[in-house]
Amino acid sequence: MATFKQAPPGNAKSGEKNFKTKCAQCHTLEKGGGHKQGPNLHGLLGRISGTAPGYTYSVANKNKAVVWEEDALYEYLLNHKKYIPGTKMVFPGLKKPQEGADLIAYLKETAGA
Ligand code: HEC
Repeated sequence: MATFKQAPPGNAKSGEKNFKTKCAQCHTLEKGGGHKQGPNLHGLLGRISGTAPGYTYSVANKNKAVVWEEDALYEYLLNHKKYIPGTKMVFPGLKKPQEGADLIAYLKETAGA
């Protein structure tokens, strides 16, 4: 089994739906949006993990210091506890890998650089 996962093309519309039902209770997306239980995700794509200003991350999330590009996000969304052991993000996980790809397509549209 390949360890490197490449994100398949996603559908931003389905991603939006998924974001609302699975992520929005803890994350805002708009520019200057507040932090909830999790950090504001505006400008996530291309940002280094653990760097949303004014949010107190776990040491694990900060120390990961990965640049959130498509493939890193995909791997994270499919298994965040494995990707960042010690993360304080409490999230049951996605049912299907495609949901991850769809979320990324949506995040790219709305929370991109
Ligand atoms: C129950 C609350 C909760 C839910 C639901 C949740 N998150 Fe999170 N998320 C967090 C918390 C808390 C953190 C900070 C983790 C840390 O510091 O260890 C986080 C961190 C993140 C990060 C890292 C941000 C950074 O700046 O490094 C990303 C990306 C992320 N979440 C995306 C998502 C997506 C996409 C979803 C929906 C599929 C989701 N989260 C669902 C609470 C949540």
